[in-house]
Amino acid sequence: MKRLLSVLLTAGVLVAPTLAMAQHNPAAAPAAEGQIVGDAPGAAPDSAKGAEASTSGSGGEAHATPHYPLEKPSELDWTFAGPFGHWDLGQLQRGLKVYKEVCSTCHSMNLVSFRDFGALGYSDAQVRALAAEYQITDPSPNASGEMFQRPGIPSDRLPSPYPNPEAAAAALGGAHPPDLSLLAKARSIERGFPTFVFDIFTQYAEGGPDYIHNLLTSYGEPVPEHFVVQPGTYYNPAFVSSFALAMPAPLSDGAVTYDDGAPQTVEQYSRDVSAFLMWAAEPHLVERKATGFVVMIFLIGFAIMLYLVKNRVWADTPH
Ligand code: HEC
Repeated sequence: MKRLLSVLLTAGVLVAPTLAMAQHNPAAAPAAEGQIVGDAPGAAPDSAKGAEASTSGSGGEAHATPHYPLEKPSELDWTFAGPFGHWDLGQLQRGLKVYKEVCSTCHSMNLVSFRDFGALGYSDAQVRALAAEYQITDPSPNASGEMFQRPGIPSDRLPSPYPNPEAAAAALGGAHPPDLSLLAKARSIERGFPTFVFDIFTQYAEGGPDYIHNLLTSYGEPVPEHFVVQPGTYYNPAFVSSFALAMPAPLSDGAVTYDDGAPQTVEQYSRDVSAFLMWAAEPHLVERKATGFVVMIFLIGFAIMLYLVKNRVWADTPH
């Protein structure tokens, strides 16, 4: 058994580098040093400059695939960051408004119920009124076996703008808008070494909202020369998997009216809706961190106590 294990290990040690070399071997496309951009795990962050980096080589003709996103998200100050974070309810309410008035024309949020909005500071009556603004197809048919529509109630989930993803894709040039319920937890950008080590100590967990904010505010930059943006897609250097995506810039200054005096700018809308999406993806974030903090204090106290008890118990035993 032991022998088998060591054979396997040796084989692994020998084969792994060979495979790795094969992966990075530009045999299929000779030429151009600097062609392999960003594939090596350690090389990720800085080769993100992608386009420029790849123009090296014979005559500047060969462009390697850049590492996406072309621009890394900048880190914002979120009220819910760190161990003592809290939700800014005003911001979450504004974010809901942006989602309702802008994003919900394309994106669903199937995992969120109207009653969940009680946590944003709305009263029961307000939640009921909000739900009633929507027409929902009741999950069960009526007495004659037909599906029917009725005004929403708090236990209903938010309705989707399209009957199914295929219909959405057909209407939006082939790409369906992803459901936004958990998107803030489903996206973040690889941080690379050593940043990810620091993140453990700074408790950085806002990669999702940072990414969404950057995506929403990075439209409109001039397209670098050698990128060919396909019709129906829009250049955005913050997009995680390419240089253009099928979502046109959704926000514009003044598009949503705020009644609490917050600035009505793309920057502010984007911050608010990103925070709202983080709340939707992890509504108990703040409680989780608060509990975690108390648990850490308890464990430290307990460890000290155990040490003192150990000293006391063994005090009379000579070394
Ligand atoms: C006109 C329709 C439309 C509107 C309005 C819209 N989106 Fe999108 N969105 C899309 C489509 C289509 C995609 C898929 C793009 C793709 O994969 O190429 C998308 C993708 C996304 C993504 C995922 C990007 C990724 O990393 O895969 C996020 C996040 C997003 N939208 C957020 C929003 C937010 C927030 C709003 C409201 C401020 C919004 N969208 C409004 C159509 C829309």
